[in-house]
Amino acid sequence: MLAPEVEAAMNTQIAAELYSSHLYLAMSAYCESEGLPGFAHWFKLQADEEREHALKFMRHVVDRGGRVTLAGIDAPQVDFDSPQSAFEAALAHEMNVTMMIDGLYGMAQQHGDYASQVFLQWFVTEQVEEERAAGDIVQTLKNVGGEPASLLLLDRELGTRRAQD
Ligand SMILES: [Fe+2]
Ligand SMILES: [Fe+2]
Repeated sequence: MLAPEVEAAMNTQIAAELYSSHLYLAMSAYCESEGLPGFAHWFKLQADEEREHALKFMRHVVDRGGRVTLAGIDAPQVDFDSPQSAFEAALAHEMNVTMMIDGLYGMAQQHGDYASQVFLQWFVTEQVEEERAAGDIVQTLKNVGGEPASLLLLDRELGTRRAQD
């Protein structure tokens, strides 16, 4: 059985993953409106992944005899100064989510909840990957410095991102 405190924190995490999905959809729409379909595609796949994260947490809560409580999703930021500022916001968001996952892991440890620790290990690794991916693109965008030809090349590259299995 899931401890009530862990169950509540996992429900908070489900809301955060769904908000992440919403945020990345907003970033996708922004990039689409900026004439950058590759950037938009990248964010759309990211939004899909975040929804999958929420579903993983839901599965875990149900499998452990807990109750899933879905709350409303806050409206995300929809306008950005530039693709770079959108990716900077994405990176800042991922760093925040990493703190949440780390907090959940610590809570599972306190409760001697080994099953949740094993479950959360996938997310600990995933957060390293997500921070690195967003951070790499921020760095590339800084190097590009808004130069149109390079931005279009990067747009093509991001447009080749494939969905995870
Ligand atoms: Fe996530
Ligand atoms: Fe994420």
